[in-house]
Amino acid sequence: MGFLSQLSIMPLLFVAMVFCQHEDYDFEDEYDPEPDEQPSLFHINPSVDYEVSHFSGPLRCAKECFCLTAFPLSMYCDHRKLKMIPAIPIHIQQLYLQYNNIEAVSSQSFANVTILREINLSHNKINSYMIDYGVFAKLGNLVQLHLQHNELEEFPFPLPNSLEQLLLGFNKISRLPANALQGLVNVTMLDLCNNNLDDSDFKGKQLSNMKNLMQINLCNNRLQNMPPDLPSSLMYLSLENNSISYIPENYFNKLPNITALRLSNNNLQEVPYKVFNLSNLVELNLGHNKLKQTFYIPRSLQHLYIEDNDIEIVNITLMCPFIDPVNTNQLTYIRMDQNKLTAPISTYAFFCFPHIRIIYYGEQKGTVSQSTQLRTPVFQRFLTPDEYEEARNEHEVEYEHEEDVVEREEDYIYLH
Ligand SMILES: *[C@@H]1O[C@H](CO)[C@@H](O)[C@H](O)[C@H]1NC(C)=O
Ligand SMILES: *[C@@H]1O[C@H](CO)[C@@H](O)[C@H](O)[C@H]1NC(C)=O
Ligand SMILES: *[C@@H]1O[C@H](CO)[C@@H](O)[C@H](O)[C@H]1NC(C)=O
Ligand SMILES: *[C@@H]1O[C@H](CO)[C@@H](O)[C@H](O)[C@H]1NC(C)=O
Ligand SMILES: *[C@@H]1O[C@H](CO)[C@@H](O)[C@H](O)[C@H]1NC(C)=O
Ligand SMILES: *[C@@H]1O[C@H](CO)[C@@H](O)[C@H](O)[C@H]1NC(C)=O
Ligand SMILES: *[C@@H]1O[C@H](CO)[C@@H](O)[C@H](O)[C@H]1NC(C)=O
Repeated sequence: MGFLSQLSIMPLLFVAMVFCQHEDYDFEDEYDPEPDEQPSLFHINPSVDYEVSHFSGPLRCAKECFCLTAFPLSMYCDHRKLKMIPAIPIHIQQLYLQYNNIEAVSSQSFANVTILREINLSHNKINSYMIDYGVFAKLGNLVQLHLQHNELEEFPFPLPNSLEQLLLGFNKISRLPANALQGLVNVTMLDLCNNNLDDSDFKGKQLSNMKNLMQINLCNNRLQNMPPDLPSSLMYLSLENNSISYIPENYFNKLPNITALRLSNNNLQEVPYKVFNLSNLVELNLGHNKLKQTFYIPRSLQHLYIEDNDIEIVNITLMCPFIDPVNTNQLTYIRMDQNKLTAPISTYAFFCFPHIRIIYYGEQKGTVSQSTQLRTPVFQRFLTPDEYEEARNEHEVEYEHEEDVVEREEDYIYLH
């Protein structure tokens, strides 16, 4: 449930992000599991003698680690330069081993601890061939496994079907065994960013069997195509920094719940006109591609990033072919700096997108000379729904002569 409640605050994060105007934030930060069962929030203070915290001798806590009376099911062994996994008392459910020098995961370490629910082995030196076969699969209660920032070359296989969050970012994974994902029906979040995966790793892998998958992160890999066969539960798809040049027209037909789509830093030159017509899409990031044209904007979309593309004209009629006054477009933010725009956006934009707050133009690239410097880098507009209605009505009558309209036009981006 922690994950779901975090999703519900996504719009807030988006807003914060819009105003920061930087985009490469970390999914891990956003989706860090909430410490709803046991706190993992406190910091280890090296000046404190945690030996005192050992409340009932070594059987209750490994000597290299510390345990707290208040959280008897957790064992904290992070940041200790450990080379081996310490002995794990059988009652432990949360095991924190991040930031050590652990190279191997032996089945002996986990022999008697089948009630483990969470293992954090991130930031260690684990190689795929140093993980005993089936060591994790035996942990039938494991829901979270953190293995990011290690030296894995292969997807760890097999894994227990109980898993819900699997973090494998920042490894060197280039192999996904044929049945690696089979049975992982409870996984909601799979992070594989920053690995060496290519299209062949996903052929015939039946990602669609992961029926609860809400988020998949595949950024910074070597994909040239959109991953096939994603499950229809998916809400959050991250594909930044790959080499994708093409999106099939009906690619999202089976993904109605997509809420955020990140495809920045790919090789897209064009996209099918209606490909993003998804009724739940809120964030769309297509920055740093080679797009020449805009496309249909779905009603739900709030944030659009199309900076650093080759767009010469923002054709609002294409983005918004008709206005539905009852179900207005939700777009509030467009970032479109580093394109090849030479003309101001049509005023029609503000009727199509009545909630628009910021159109970020920044600088345009290409043959633009000094004299065509943009007058205002950021266009901002704040209209209440009532003001919008008023403006709309005025537009129908005598829009051209309205004083505030003239003022607003001052804020436009003119090229001379
Ligand atoms: C696991 O339990 C068995 C039987 O109780 C015991 O012999 C063995 O030493 C234990 N292994 C570990 C690693 O604690
Ligand atoms: C696991 O370790 C990572 C560091 O890689 C840390 O950011 C995260 O909070 C830890 N997770 C838990 C649940 O302790
Ligand atoms: C998947 O999650 C459901 C609901 O939490 C649980 O009942 C079921 O046992 C889990 N499946 C596995 C294979 O652990
Ligand atoms: C899409 O989301 C809705 C609402 O959260 C949910 O009820 C539905 O099951 C989801 N669809 C799929 C295919 O998972
Ligand atoms: C994408 O790759 C570039 C260069 O390799 C890197 O600077 C940037 O941080 C990456 N972006 C993301 C979101 O990982
Ligand atoms: C977008 O999809 C909706 C259904 O979800 C449909 O009613 C609408 O006509 C589509 N818009 C376009 C421009 O195809
Ligand atoms: C915008 O697109 C529409 C529909 O394709 C087209 O009729 C119109 O000429 C375009 N406008 C500009 C300024 O290119």
